[in-house]
Amino acid sequence: MDRKVNIVVGVCGGIAAYKTVEVVSRLKKTGYNVHVIMTRNAQEFITPLTFQTISSNKVDTDMFERPDVWDVHHISLAQKADLVLVAPATANIIGKIATGIADDLLSTVIMATKSKVVFVPAMNTAMFENSIVQENISRLQKAGYCFIEPDIGLMACGTAGKGRFPEPKDIVEYIKSVLISNNKDFDGKRVLISAGPTREMIDPVRFLSNRSSGKMGYAIAQAAYYRGADVRLVTGPVADHISKQISSDINVINVTTATEMNTVMLSEYHNCDIVIMAAAVADYMPKCFSNMKIKKNEEELSFKLVRTPDIAKNLGEIKSYNKLHIGFAAETENLIENSLNKIGKKKLDFIVANDITQKGAGFEVDTNIIKIIKPNKEIIEYPILSKKEAANAILDEVSKLIK
Ligand code: PMT
Repeated sequence: MDRKVNIVVGVCGGIAAYKTVEVVSRLKKTGYNVHVIMTRNAQEFITPLTFQTISSNKVDTDMFERPDVWDVHHISLAQKADLVLVAPATANIIGKIATGIADDLLSTVIMATKSKVVFVPAMNTAMFENSIVQENISRLQKAGYCFIEPDIGLMACGTAGKGRFPEPKDIVEYIKSVLISNNKDFDGKRVLISAGPTREMIDPVRFLSNRSSGKMGYAIAQAAYYRGADVRLVTGPVADHISKQISSDINVINVTTATEMNTVMLSEYHNCDIVIMAAAVADYMPKCFSNMKIKKNEEELSFKLVRTPDIAKNLGEIKSYNKLHIGFAAETENLIENSLNKIGKKKLDFIVANDITQKGAGFEVDTNIIKIIKPNKEIIEYPILSKKEAANAILDEVSKLIK
């Protein structure tokens, strides 16, 4: 970084304020210069000294404090900020900004800044779901403010539901993507992404599938969206907590089987510039589907499997010269050789290979260990990364190829 990136963190009065300490610590370790502003209520939960020690910067709490060096403090902080993070964001601060109230240092800085403002709402579920709070959030989103969706889970008030403060590491990843996306290197690009597993039905209650959680594909979708892309995500069945983590602006098309995914990917292909295939598509499906539940009459049961459509290969066959095709390879052996074969067979611009025997790589986990392999056999190796970091690393390589 040539100049240190300045992040202003606004801390409001909620119990999650203590978790913001870890956010500030992680932001600092990433290399950002962090300035904390605390509201009066925030100081009921945690002291300014904690943030001062972690951020190595004086914490601002007062609009009318006499500065050592004269400046109009709320204006200088607002101008200095490359990004303002409000975490935890209470219903109160959201309501104030949505209705144009600037009555303390934090709300004044938010009003006066021209940089991106990211709110991290954290509150009791009923409060979060309150229609007035939701209307305020939509109003702010329409005005260009960003929101990180709260997590679902048990909260300090003893209830369970949506409203939990997200993991600090996820907030920091988001901030990094927003800062990268200030460049908007995918602006105007339409990105078609496949994610998750497919299910190949045997009878009305049974199916063949695999361990894909969708995390990798969803992380790419979210990162591409942050970087300005118009994203279309074609997804096999994934858990609710995965599907709820992406922005509502991402166009999601749900499918179940490989055949359905093939149909949708082919029909969406004409409206995209870049296709990234992270889905773990079943290679075989039962030849016949039994309309009735198969009874366990016999000791052994066998049924025939037939090949599913190879979506990446089908898209490769109609590939236009101005489109980029990125595939994945989940391998347990001969990673490089098998990946290079797939590049050729599926006409890929590069492949993201993951050796799924490695701890922390591949299916279900939050991390991945990837190698980007190019048709000219160039290989870029990465250390273990969170799937969000891996998504950005993949997009960095795609970005270099954008025509
Ligand atoms: O979802 P997660 O739990 O986060 O796990 C991530 C992941 C392991 C699923 C992901 O990182 C990954 O490797 N995805 C591709 C898995 C896979 O099916 O690999 P493959 O080597 O079998 O397929 C090669 C490529 O062809 C892939 O881009 C795949 O989407 C595509 N394919 C495969 C079969 C098929 N019938 N049609 C296809 O288009």
